[in-house]
Amino acid sequence: MKRYDKEAMPLDRLSVLSVKAALGPWAEKTGLRTEAQVDSTNLRLKEEARAGLIRPPYLLAAGAQTAGRGRLGRSFVSPPGGLYMSLLIPTPEDFDPGKITILSAVAVCRAVEEETPLRPRIKWVNDIFVGGRKVSGILAEKIDQGVIVGIGVNIHTPPGGFPPEAGLAGALDAEADPARLAGRIAFHILEGTAHPGDPAILDAYRQRMFLTGQTVRFTQNGREREGLVVGVSDDGGLLVTVNGLTETLRCGEVTIGSQSLDGLE
Ligand code: BTN
Repeated sequence: MKRYDKEAMPLDRLSVLSVKAALGPWAEKTGLRTEAQVDSTNLRLKEEARAGLIRPPYLLAAGAQTAGRGRLGRSFVSPPGGLYMSLLIPTPEDFDPGKITILSAVAVCRAVEEETPLRPRIKWVNDIFVGGRKVSGILAEKIDQGVIVGIGVNIHTPPGGFPPEAGLAGALDAEADPARLAGRIAFHILEGTAHPGDPAILDAYRQRMFLTGQTVRFTQNGREREGLVVGVSDDGGLLVTVNGLTETLRCGEVTIGSQSLDGLE
């Protein structure tokens, strides 16, 4: 397991107050704690929920992770200087992993827009980009006790930069209080789950999703394919036209040429 020598970002009692303030009306109903460093906030909540120690809604925010986990079995580089949070929510009646991901991506964008001058964009399905770099990723996991939405936000570039295994990772590099960001992200997710089917969420997602009009590559049934993105379906799939036929991608990942990222704010 990776250990960070540098002192992890202190998320102390004062920051709990900031998270609560940012949670607004949800503060009273939401279990909450902050930690300077954990192995993985998703893993912590999974174990604690299964052991009956916590119940939804519950938010854990940390300043660093030593074993951060990403999608598709990857690791998520989580040095001090970022925000790593997991929110345990009750399983929605119309549970759909795609919808949770869409809601969470919009929640991250809205929180960053509220707390910084930045205008983040979304790469389907759940990567948040600023200036052509991935600044945030989302990993939603369903367990018997609810759904754990794990979100990492790179706030500051670590000294020496991100390691090569972090790929396209970048940071907000803006003055942003991680405690407030955590609270606002959780606020927007909790509000969204309280208003299921709100069309404003999909509209907000489509407005920020930058792949529309781009040629993307993806792997389907072991075959490399290429197509033109024409939009996002009502249930959050990526609409891609291949050889004149439009298909809906529901999961997985698409890649784009680096020139497609050049024009991003
Ligand atoms: C991805 O981009 O592949 C998803 C990354 C999700 C990372 C977050 S950080 C907080 C939570 N805890 C984890 O171990 N992973 C998620």
